Amino acid sequence: MITLNTQPVAPLLERLLAEATLLRPETSPAFAGMSERGEELMRSKSGHVELYAQLKDFPLPVSRDTGLLLYMLARSFEARSIVEFGTSFGISTLFLAAALRDNGGGRLITTEFEPSKVVRARSNLAAGGLLDLVEIREGDALQTLGSDLPETIDLVLLDGAKPLYADILALLERRLSAGAFIVADNADDSPDYLAYVRSPDNGYLSVPFGDEVELSMRIG
Ligand SMILES: C[S@@+](CC[C@H](N)C(=O)[O-])C[C@H]1O[C@@H](n2cnc3c(N)ncnc32)[C@H](O)[C@@H]1O
Repeated sequence: MITLNTQPVAPLLERLLAEATLLRPETSPAFAGMSERGEELMRSKSGHVELYAQLKDFPLPVSRDTGLLLYMLARSFEARSIVEFGTSFGISTLFLAAALRDNGGGRLITTEFEPSKVVRARSNLAAGGLLDLVEIREGDALQTLGSDLPETIDLVLLDGAKPLYADILALLERRLSAGAFIVADNADDSPDYLAYVRSPDNGYLSVPFGDEVELSMRIG
C-alpha cells in the first residue's frame, strides 16, 4: 500500500482534482474576454502579480498525469529534499509529500504569494496527514527561495509564474544533486528557461514530456 492510493490522501486528491475541473478560469464568466490580456500578463515578469491576484480563487493544478509523474520520479530515486515554486491549493504538493512519506521522510519547501491559497494548501496538507513534511513559505518566490535552502535538492517543480522559471532555477541550481530532476509545468510559456535547460553547455539533459511539462535532469 502506498500513501497516494490510500486514506486519507486518495479520496482527498480525487475531490480536489474534481473540484479543479469545475473551477477553471476559462469557464468562469469573470474571465470572459480576458484571454488576450491574460496571455500578455502571463508572459510579463511584472504582470504576473496582477494575473495571479485575479486567479486567487482558482486551484490551477498540475494534471493528474503530471502529479503521478512527480510521485513516481520522487519515489524512483528516493528523493528526500524537494522544492516547489507555486503551491496554490497544494494539489501537486500532496503528490510530492506522499512520495516523501513513502520514501521514509524528507523535506518539501513550497512557496506561494497569495495568502488565501497558503491557508487552503495548509488545510489540504493537514487533511492528507502530510503537513509535517512540508514547509510553506508565504511570499514572492524570488525572496522566499533566496535563502535558507537545503544543502542539496533532489527534485524541483516549477509551477508558478512562467517568466520567472529561469530566475528560480538560478536560485536553486548550485544545490541540485547530480541526477536531480526539474519538472517545469507549461514551460512553453517560458522560452528563456527552455533555451537554458536545453543548451548542452548548461549542465542539463532536457526533454519535453507529454503535452505539459519539460523534464530536465542535472548532470553537472
Ligand atoms: C499553476 S498554480 C500552482 C498549482 C500547484 N502547483 C498545483 O499543481 O496544485 C501557480 C501558483 O503560483 C503562484 N505564484 C505565481 N508567481 C509566484 C511568485 N512569484 N511567488 C510565489 N507564488 C507565485 C500563484 O499565485 C499560483 O497559485
